[in-house]
Amino acid sequence: MTTAQEGKAQEGALEDAAIRSADDPDQGNAPAVEALDRDSAAVELARLADLIARADRAYHQDDAPEITDAEYDALKRSNAAIEARFPDLKRADSPSDRVGAAPAEGFGKIRHARRMLSLANAFDYDDVREFDARIRRYLGLGADSALAYTAEPKIDGLSLSLRYERGQLAHAATRGDGETGEDVTANALTIADIPHTLTNAPEVLEVRGEVHMRHEDFHALNARAAKAGSRTFANPRNAAAGSLRQLDPEITRSRPLRFFAYGWGELSAPLAETQLDSLNRLRDFGFSINPLTRRCDGPDSLLAHYRAIEAQRAELGYDIDGVVYKLDDLALQERLGFRATTPRWALAHKFPAETAWTVLEGIDIQVGRTGALSPVARLKPVNVGGVLVSNATLHNEDYIAGRDSRGQPIREGRDIRIGDRVQVYRAGDVIPKIADVDLAARPQDAAPYAFPETCPECGSPAVREPGDSARRCTGGLVCPAQQVERLKHFVSRGAFDIDGLGAKQIEMFFTDDQLPIRTPADIFTLAERDAEAVTKLKNRPGWGETSARNLFRAIDERRRIPINRFLFGLGIRHVGESAAQLLARHFGSWQALRDSLTGPPEAALEELTDINGIGPVLARSLIDAFANPSECEAIDTLARQLEILDAERPQAEGSPVAGQTIVFTGTLTRMTRAEAKARAEALGARVAGSVSAKTDILIAGEGAGSKAAKAEALGVRVIDEDAWLALIGA
Ligand code: IVH
Repeated sequence: MTTAQEGKAQEGALEDAAIRSADDPDQGNAPAVEALDRDSAAVELARLADLIARADRAYHQDDAPEITDAEYDALKRSNAAIEARFPDLKRADSPSDRVGAAPAEGFGKIRHARRMLSLANAFDYDDVREFDARIRRYLGLGADSALAYTAEPKIDGLSLSLRYERGQLAHAATRGDGETGEDVTANALTIADIPHTLTNAPEVLEVRGEVHMRHEDFHALNARAAKAGSRTFANPRNAAAGSLRQLDPEITRSRPLRFFAYGWGELSAPLAETQLDSLNRLRDFGFSINPLTRRCDGPDSLLAHYRAIEAQRAELGYDIDGVVYKLDDLALQERLGFRATTPRWALAHKFPAETAWTVLEGIDIQVGRTGALSPVARLKPVNVGGVLVSNATLHNEDYIAGRDSRGQPIREGRDIRIGDRVQVYRAGDVIPKIADVDLAARPQDAAPYAFPETCPECGSPAVREPGDSARRCTGGLVCPAQQVERLKHFVSRGAFDIDGLGAKQIEMFFTDDQLPIRTPADIFTLAERDAEAVTKLKNRPGWGETSARNLFRAIDERRRIPINRFLFGLGIRHVGESAAQLLARHFGSWQALRDSLTGPPEAALEELTDINGIGPVLARSLIDAFANPSECEAIDTLARQLEILDAERPQAEGSPVAGQTIVFTGTLTRMTRAEAKARAEALGARVAGSVSAKTDILIAGEGAGSKAAKAEALGVRVIDEDAWLALIGA
């Protein structure tokens, strides 16, 4: 299961449960209340108490409901009706008195003091050398200065943040969306590798690491589960996630989880000056540090250690999916800082993908939210590194034809045809891909694949713009596939992430004539458009009173939405999570962003492309979206339903430049331009590329020319590099 799927685990589980409960012998049909005498009423109440308790356990503790919400509600209703008729038979353990934790509220939420980030990936040696070169460029270091790194296994588990205050474990939280995670403190306390108290630790210490399960423990757990007829886990990572995310910590205690510490979040005092020494201090506090962690003096020795770890992979006894490299010097880490979601000073070097050969039985075309026609390979199912694969991506029409987007041959120009024997590869959690084709095994009658030139969903012409690798449906929001995919994106994890409203439910509402959701705004007007919405919904298969009410509550909770999630949710082409974050930080508020995007296009283009990390293609796409009247109207209609929260400015508290617009010009001598820009942004400033009346400060390095003159003319404050460093206290 991917993380996104885990988040919406209820979807699949409900379907499973519906199948299972249909032939569950001991559920039976409840006798009518009127037909019961006292004795049979008591028996029936006992039976219902049992069934409801079992359903509660399955739902809340095992993450695997056994009956649908509707069936659950029916049991509760029967119980209440019998109790109403025979009040004196009400049991001490009556289910009516138990308030089962609402599914969406299973865990408390914890906001991380420092965001939990992910890692940039590398797949080959060139990527590793480029990582080192990029760091040197950023820091302005020559190729011959020494630069040490650490290398350690990338554990395939789930990350956990442990916050210690005055030496006591204050709370433990899963990563969640990186900003807010689930409170799993009680569960973390049951893991033997996690100390409850620390001696001589800094007053505040957040330890971060990976919870995982060893192979032998995973197999034993699955064997026990299979014997007891309960759910088994697909792999150790899912087993670890399912075991940590238990509402009953006693269940977590019975599952053999392990924890390797690999880093930290907030600290009231530094642990050491280097990554490795800090890890050693964590080990002294009682944490397990991966024994294969080494200090390496550059890309060659990183690669040597990568190979050594790879050679031991099968014998480690736990899953790893690569090797993580981190710059060892913490002062340099600090200078390098972070991109939107990943640190500049760390890299995950992933192991190569697993591969297998099978037959391509067909090619389906899927239409995405931006109209791209994506070919999907339908394969004769094949086992690829332990996972049964029957679908794989074929990217686009050029890829099938054997050329890249510049027209250069790939696979030496071999095209892919239905009936071919093809090589599938799978790396980690990503969608499997088709890597190669075996021409010797090609059937005589296999014909070159003719890529469709009309949209298979709405029949509109599908065209390819110059420079675009995808052929796209021109139907826009007339195309039902684009509409529904946009909605799925809108409710996805990084966007609005509405509990109980996943891809499956979107498909249901999209084709529903009584309770239609066709646009994002429709989600928020559903309840007001139809006063009977809850009643109508709870009578649908797979829904009940509880889940219907929970859905409307979850929708209401998302009416207050951080601006970055809102922007990402709009699904505008090229605006991914990182870009949304950059835009949010730059503009601060929805009003400021909207004003800029609906103002003169040249000014908007200049302002957008001035943002570090936003290029002209993305900027154009945004401007075009807002210039399109129906799109702009749809966005405004949605915005009227919401309270869009301003961006939080990182570390801007007490910053002398928070909210100011600054421009660098000339040559800086103490740090590179990239670093200066990143530092200023970290302090809450906006860094622009050109001087205007909006500029607050111009930092003029050596040889500053026309920009300095323009700034003087506009009366903008001009300072030199030393004054700038003094201003920010560097
Ligand atoms: S460092 C700011 N080190 O990989 C960087 N992560 O793809 C924090 N992971 O979310 C991550 N082993 O859950 C780091 N030795 C290791 C790791 C590791 C596994 C996971 C971690 C992170 C994910 C990023």
